[in-house]
Formats: sequence, C-alpha cells, structure tokens
Amino acid sequence: MSRLVCSLFVVILAAWWSMPASLLAADTVCIQCHGGLEGRLGEPVAQWQTSVHAENGISCHDCHGGDPADSAMAMSPERGFIGVPDYVDVPDFCGRCHVGVAEEYKAGAHGQAIENGGAQCVVCHGNHAIEKATLELINEEDCSQCHTYERAALIRMSLVETDKVITTVEHDLERLYRLGFAVDDMQGELFNQRNRFHRIFHGVDVERVRRETADVEGELGKIVKQVVSMDSTLSQRKLWGSVVIGLFVLAGVVFLLLRKAYEEEEKS
Ligand code: HEC
Ligand code: HEC
Ligand code: HEC
Ligand code: HEC
Ligand code: HEC
Repeated sequence: MSRLVCSLFVVILAAWWSMPASLLAADTVCIQCHGGLEGRLGEPVAQWQTSVHAENGISCHDCHGGDPADSAMAMSPERGFIGVPDYVDVPDFCGRCHVGVAEEYKAGAHGQAIENGGAQCVVCHGNHAIEKATLELINEEDCSQCHTYERAALIRMSLVETDKVITTVEHDLERLYRLGFAVDDMQGELFNQRNRFHRIFHGVDVERVRRETADVEGELGKIVKQVVSMDSTLSQRKLWGSVVIGLFVLAGVVFLLLRKAYEEEEKS
C-alpha cells in the first residue's frame, strides 16, 4: 500500500517537473482574475504569455509582488505588492534581477539623464511582451525619437561586427567538438567574452563601446588561433589518412598481380 502511494507520488512529481515553466506560472490568482478583465488591466496577460519571462517562469507577482495564491489579499502591500513603478523607478524594478545590466545602465548617459527624458528599460524592451534581446533593438525609428541617430549608428556598427565574430567562433567550436577535439576551455572563454560583450551596450558610450569591442575581438582572436591550429592538425590527419589508404590500395594491387602471376604459372 505505502509502495503504491510512493510511486503515485513519484509520478505526480515527475509530471510536475516535466511541465513547462510557463504552464506552472500560469496557475496564479493574478492571471485567473486579470485574464477576465478588459483593457489596460487584461491586456498584460496576453502580452506576457509569449514573452521571454513567461518562457522562463517569471510571472506577474515576480515583477509586481503580491500573493499569487490568495485572491482576496493578492494585491495587498502587506503581501509585498509593489504595483506599477514610476518612470524613474523602472531601472530598480527590473534591476532586482538584471543586476549587471542595471549597473551598467545607471552609469551611462541614459541612466544619468533619466530625470530629463533619458530612455529606460521599458522604452526599449517594452513591459509585458519582452522578447530575447537582439541588436535589432538599435534602429533608426526607435533611437531617433529623442536625439539624432548618429551616435546610435556608430554603436550599432561596432556591436554588429563583434557579434558576427562571436557567431563564427561558436560554429567553429561546435564543428571541432563534433570531430572529437577537446574544446571545453575554449567554449568557457567564449562564454565569458559573450557575457562581457552583451553588457557593453547599456552604457551607450561610443568610445567605450569601441574600446571594449576591440578588446573582446582581441580575446576572440586568441580562440581563432587555436581553431586554425586544430584545423591544420585535422588536414594533416586527413593527409596521413589518404597516404595510408593509398598504401593499402597499392598493397592490394600488388597482391592481385602476384596471385595472377602465380596462377598463370600454375596453369603452364
Ligand atoms: C480578484 C481579481 C484580482 C486579482 C486576484 C488580482 N488583481 Fe490586480 N487588479 C485587479 C483590479 C480590478 C485592478 C484595478 C483596480 C485596482 O487597482 O485595485 C487591478 C490592478 C492591478 C495592477 C495595476 C495597479 C495600478 O496602480 O494601476 C497591477 C500591476 C496588478 N493588478 C497586478 C496584480 C498581481 C501581480 C496580482 C497577483 C499577485 C493581481 N493583480 C491579482 C484585479 C485583480
Ligand atoms: C517583467 C516584469 C513584469 C511582468 C512579468 C509583468 N509586469 Fe505588469 N508591468 C510591468 C511594468 C514595468 C509596468 C509599468 C508599465 C510602464 O511603465 O510602461 C507594468 C504595468 C502593469 C499594469 C498597469 C498597466 C497600465 O497601463 O496602467 C498592469 C495592470 C499590469 N502590469 C499587470 C500585470 C499582470 C496581470 C501580469 C501577469 C500576466 C504582469 N503585469 C506581468 C512589469 C511587469
Ligand atoms: C536604449 C535602449 C535600451 C535601454 C534603455 C535598455 N536596454 Fe536592455 N538592451 C538593449 C539592446 C540594444 C540590447 C542588446 C545588446 C546586445 O545584444 O549586446 C539589450 C540587451 C538587454 C538584455 C540581455 C543582455 C544579455 O546578457 O544578453 C537584458 C537582460 C536587458 N537588456 C535588460 C535591460 C534592463 C533591465 C534595462 C533597464 C535598467 C535595459 N535593458 C535598458 C536596449 C536597451
Ligand atoms: C523576478 C526577476 C526578473 C525581473 C523583475 C525582470 N526580469 Fe527580465 N528576465 C528574468 C529571467 C529569469 C530571464 C530569462 C533568463 C535570462 O535570459 O536572463 C529574463 C530575461 C529578460 C530579457 C531577455 C534576455 C536575453 O537573454 O536576451 C530581457 C530583455 C529582460 N529580461 C528585460 C527585463 C525588463 C525590461 C524588466 C523590467 C520591466 C525585467 N526584465 C524584469 C528575470 C526578471
Ligand atoms: C526616450 C528618449 C530616448 C530614446 C528613445 C533613446 N535615447 Fe539615447 N539619449 C536620451 C537622452 C535624454 C540622452 C542624454 C542627452 C544626449 O546626450 O542627447 C541620450 C544619449 C544617448 C547617447 C549619447 C551618449 C554619450 O554620452 O555620448 C547615445 C549613444 C544614445 N543615447 C543611444 C541611444 C540608442 C542606441 C537608442 C535606441 C536603442 C536611444 N539612445 C534611444 C534619450 C533617448
């Protein structure tokens, strides 16, 4: 009997674990109630559902606070409800989780000018329909609302170039890994450089972006050197491989000729 209970428990646990995070997060009183509301109160639910946050199990209460299990007390400040942040408070609101980005942002021109119309997180990323960030976020239409596009374009150019190098190195390492090379250390270093690279933008400082992307490219260059040397090992291996195959073929031919000669001798 207790064994049955036990295995039932395991089955339930397994089902819970295998459920996508967004499904789990969907089961809160916030979503149940707001899902049935209209306009500005209901819209966030549908917008959030396909976001990178829903995908990673970050739900309404993770951002707004409150009690996701108690309908009556859900939006009570005693249960940690924060409500909607003011424009200037958004960086701290998002920065509870995105610590590194918020730090970089605050030190930069946008963070410094936030009281005077500097762009903050929601201006560029949106609030509920936030997607995985790409360099497409830097474009003339969005970045020329408050100032000219010129400096934004310079930043974009440096970032796009380095982004391409990162992608190339990524593919190279995957290829070498599949061929059986040990690339763990190189992948670790690539990971570090990629993280560092993705932090640079939020400071929006043209000179610094140039300096730092050049530095990242320098570090990537070291990995590329190792890739080139592995590739030359690979072509040497291929060369020796074909030499060995050539010798085998030659041996086979010689053997056939000898046997033929022997058989002919037998006949005569
Ligand atoms: C029983 C229904 C119900 C539940 C449960 C509920 N809400 Fe609300 N929520 C409302 C209504 C109605 C309003 C608008 C009136 C108000 O602000 O009280 C609102 C307003 C809000 C606002 C906007 C406040 C503002 O100042 O404009 C946020 C943010 C919010 N809810 C988040 C949440 C979160 C997070 C949860 C779960 C922890 C939650 N709600 C649970 C009905 C609900
Ligand atoms: C990633 C954090 C985040 C998540 C997750 C999130 N919100 Fe919000 N929400 C915000 C921010 C930031 C604002 C303020 C909007 C602004 O300044 O544009 C906001 C505003 C709101 C408002 C006020 C809208 C208005 O126009 O007045 C409501 C209502 C709301 N959220 C409900 C929800 C509900 C319901 C969920 C879950 C489905 C949710 N939010 C999930 C960050 C979040
Ligand atoms: C002026 C527009 C802008 C503002 C303001 C902004 N971001 Fe970004 N954010 C971007 C762009 C562009 C990228 C992509 C940069 C890249 O890929 O290197 C990005 C990337 C990100 C990423 C992904 C970083 C990674 O490691 O891949 C996160 C998280 C993020 N932003 C959060 C925030 C938060 C939190 C704030 C507010 C403190 C904020 N952003 C303010 C434009 C902005
Ligand atoms: C409760 C923690 C939490 C809060 C608050 C939060 N996020 Fe996130 N955010 C996450 C997690 C977890 C992920 C998914 C993992 C990752 O990519 O970092 C994520 C992912 C993102 C991404 C995609 C990152 C990428 O790799 O491209 C962006 C952009 C982003 N968040 C912006 C914001 C903005 C803007 C706010 C405020 C409105 C915010 N987040 C508030 C936890 C949070
Ligand atoms: C909501 C308004 C607003 C938006 C949208 C906006 N910015 Fe800004 N930006 C500012 C303000 C305010 C300043 C500070 C005053 C100045 O230097 O013009 C600034 C300054 C800058 C600077 C100058 C930094 C320096 O010190 O040289 C750069 C670069 C920049 N923004 C890039 C961008 C990019 C890239 C985007 C689009 C992803 C963008 N901005 C969107 C308001 C905005």
